[in-house]
Amino acid sequence: MTTARKAIENLSVEEAAEELAALAAEIAEHDRRYHGDDAPTISDADYDALRLRNAAIEAAFPELVRSDSPSTAVGAAPSGAFGQVVHAKPMLSLDNVFSDEDVVDFVNSVRRFLAWSGDQELPITAEPKIDGLSMSLRYENRELVTAATRGDGTTGENVTANIRTISDIPQTLPKDAPDVVEVRGEVYMRRDDFMALNERMAAETGRVFANPRNFAAGSLRQKDPENTRARPLKFFAYAWGETSEPLAQTQFEAVQRLGAWGFPINDHMAICRSVEDLLTRYRAIEAERASLPYDIDGVVYKVDSLALQERLGFRSRSPRWATAHKFPAEKATTVLRAIEIQVGRTGALTPVARLEPVTVGGVVVTNATLHNEDYINGIGNSGQRIRPEEHDIRVGDTVTIQRAGDVIPQILDVVLEKRPRDAEKYVFPDHCPACGSHAVREEGEVVRRCTGGLICPAQAVERIRHFVSRNAFDIEGLGEKQIEFFFNHEDPSLQIRSPADIFTLKARQDGSLTKLENIDGFGAVSVKKLYAAIDERRQVSLSRFLFALGIRHIGETNAKRIARHYLSFDALRTGASAAVMPEGKGDPGNAEWQELVGINGIGSVVAEALAEFFAEEHNQQAVDALLAAGVSAIDEEPVGDVSSPVAGKTVVFTGGLERMSRDEAKAMAERLGAKVAGSVSKKTDLVVAGPGAGSKLKQASELGIEVIDEDAWFVLVGQ
Ligand code: IVH
Repeated sequence: MTTARKAIENLSVEEAAEELAALAAEIAEHDRRYHGDDAPTISDADYDALRLRNAAIEAAFPELVRSDSPSTAVGAAPSGAFGQVVHAKPMLSLDNVFSDEDVVDFVNSVRRFLAWSGDQELPITAEPKIDGLSMSLRYENRELVTAATRGDGTTGENVTANIRTISDIPQTLPKDAPDVVEVRGEVYMRRDDFMALNERMAAETGRVFANPRNFAAGSLRQKDPENTRARPLKFFAYAWGETSEPLAQTQFEAVQRLGAWGFPINDHMAICRSVEDLLTRYRAIEAERASLPYDIDGVVYKVDSLALQERLGFRSRSPRWATAHKFPAEKATTVLRAIEIQVGRTGALTPVARLEPVTVGGVVVTNATLHNEDYINGIGNSGQRIRPEEHDIRVGDTVTIQRAGDVIPQILDVVLEKRPRDAEKYVFPDHCPACGSHAVREEGEVVRRCTGGLICPAQAVERIRHFVSRNAFDIEGLGEKQIEFFFNHEDPSLQIRSPADIFTLKARQDGSLTKLENIDGFGAVSVKKLYAAIDERRQVSLSRFLFALGIRHIGETNAKRIARHYLSFDALRTGASAAVMPEGKGDPGNAEWQELVGINGIGSVVAEALAEFFAEEHNQQAVDALLAAGVSAIDEEPVGDVSSPVAGKTVVFTGGLERMSRDEAKAMAERLGAKVAGSVSKKTDLVVAGPGAGSKLKQASELGIEVIDEDAWFVLVGQ
């Protein structure tokens, strides 16, 4: 870019965003020429000027810092440069709670799962939730062998060389440590170190980071470990993954042991014996928050007994035995400049507020969600008024907004006294802003949806974005901009209008004269990388494949549940395509439908969405096109203990249970490799019936299925 630059204070938000996008592309291209092709085309001074300009705009508009920002990418290895590490045990996340009642609910849910009464004491630890990056450190024979980031929880990046430069982290463990142990905790940067270094780096190199957490993340992604060494990274140990022998009997003792081995542990950890205790600790830690030298964003509670943790186990993403009590969201007041409508992949029209920039908790906010039409009009999800009469939200209004952690900010309320006289009530569009089709609101729904379906470009683009997103096909190099570029391109060899087109792009390009590498913004190196990224993803796990299809109600968790049940795409497709849902009361649906709704955690709404998806001819065609383009889903491995006597069997629990709750029974069966179904069918192998069992027991005996009681179950599984 050679045009004269506007003074930063005169840039509008739109102009700033545009310039940052252009700078990111331009700097990336120079980086490629310099590093990749070894042929720089500008002087070092001009290159530095670009970076400084980028940093200065980012400093003025921190909310516009791009995920591919050159300031965060500098010196960082290109993604994929760090090897991958499959975690021996997945690195899960934590559930969040926000209120005192939520904490009561958490403790009650633990008691319920364990079928524990209120008078048995349940010790729970409380400790600060550090706002950094989680890290898994694997020691074999007491030597640090690998350090890996969390990644998607299953696979992380190998950052061992960089981690070895952190003095908080021991390279070797003492003799009493087990032969294999994965120590887990948080890498973070102190606030004072962050501020001093960030200032220096902004001046010297044009790199800035919005907060200590991002700085720590950038530091870990350095290609040269010597760069990481120069950054004052710190570590707190608070958990562990695989261990060749148990560390202790309680969470508290286990963490103390990590401390004795030389890991820094947080000295604000305490054992609480009641909900009141937990809340007192929470308030004490909250009161200290500002004076702590590092950022924290809540308090983590963990059931102290490791035997109980084992019994409680995990949900798909988080342990049942722990939760994070987050600090309240931060609030601010600003002016609503405009309301824009975004169209999602299912056609949902979502209103987004464009705001006068305002700082909330250290981050400048310019966008906030307005949820839906009713929310703008002051009506809540169950029809109740959420603001006093006439309290709708209007363009020009002064509004209060709230930001909690990484969640998108939301508008809470209107300051009515400041409403401009001429402010008009907002009229929600009844046509899709992207394709002009009617946008309708079904009876009982809060969401207005575009009816354009396949002809709506916004929906199509969003579906492709979802398809390539991190937890779906995870294709690097296909961001929003690129997808729009490919979607709108006139040359057929450069069009991506459906997921399958992604995988045929290279073949179409091979036979075309309009070459991607000659187009501005795509150098030869980046095109090569893009093709490699696409090729790498021709095979993905069945759960990712299913999630990527973007079927309503099938998020990651449900995709996993369904994938683990059917195990192969063929079986899943055959089953879902043949499922016929019940027509009315008393109709149970056919056997395939029964199988589908029998999957643990899958109800009729999800089952219906899946069956409907496969009933549509164009969806079947889209799937066939993917398969024809050489894409396939890797069969799911049966989960749980494959050697247990119930592995691979389908079990139904019915009637009362006395030694455990129904939820614990299900979780135990799944740990042992069994599939738990909600209803009895031909496919059921075993029914565990307690007192009061009714129709399911009857069905089992009609079908000749083996029935046992709870005690026999414990004998069978040897527990
Ligand atoms: S325990 C299986 N304890 O919070 C549970 N996590 O929101 C393992 N975090 O991914 C996590 N401080 O990166 C735990 N004292 C603490 C923590 C903590 C920060 C992070 C961790 C985790 C995330 C979940």
